[in-house]
Amino acid sequence: MKLTLVAAVSVLSTLASGLALPDLTPRSTVIHPSIAILIKQDYPTTAFPPTNTAETSRSNQLHEVRTLLGYEVPPCTGTCTFSFPTAATTATGSAQVQLFSTIQYPQSGNTWNSKPSTNQELGAFQTSTTGAATVMQNFGLTFACPTTNTKLGFETHPVNDNDSVTWDVPTGGFILTCG
Ligand SMILES: *[C@@H]1O[C@H](CO)[C@@H](O)[C@H](O)[C@H]1NC(C)=O
Repeated sequence: MKLTLVAAVSVLSTLASGLALPDLTPRSTVIHPSIAILIKQDYPTTAFPPTNTAETSRSNQLHEVRTLLGYEVPPCTGTCTFSFPTAATTATGSAQVQLFSTIQYPQSGNTWNSKPSTNQELGAFQTSTTGAATVMQNFGLTFACPTTNTKLGFETHPVNDNDSVTWDVPTGGFILTCG
């Protein structure tokens, strides 16, 4: 009986982790962010201009830097999935990055203190300077396509202390593939 239970739990957990993996089926539309804005804990009221270099870092439990990312998603019929298919430009410490949704699209003028509220954690990625990032946690990296042009906002967070990850927004990092 015990063995049966263990086997059943093992099958269930395999199934659960299988279901938790992102659907990496190639899709027709690749969407890079239309805007990326750094927000810095050390400069809570400074509005940094939109940038091509995303950063996610923390040192000594402080000095956190996050990137607000905005994607303009056209209507489609299937699903959209986040991935990070390129090497990071720099990655130190554990090099892990969490991705959250925000309640609104980011805009110029956003600051650490004044920006769209963080909504839900969608997942976490293990980045590297040698290749694509891998998915560590998936709570919502795949979602249904919008039915109309939709502007979606997201925010990156460091996972651990003394971590820093940077990437080139126009050519790599977090992308959406939709179709
Ligand atoms: C992060 O770095 C600081 C020194 O800069 C050190 O005191 C602290 O222990 C480090 N934290 C971790 C988790 O390694």
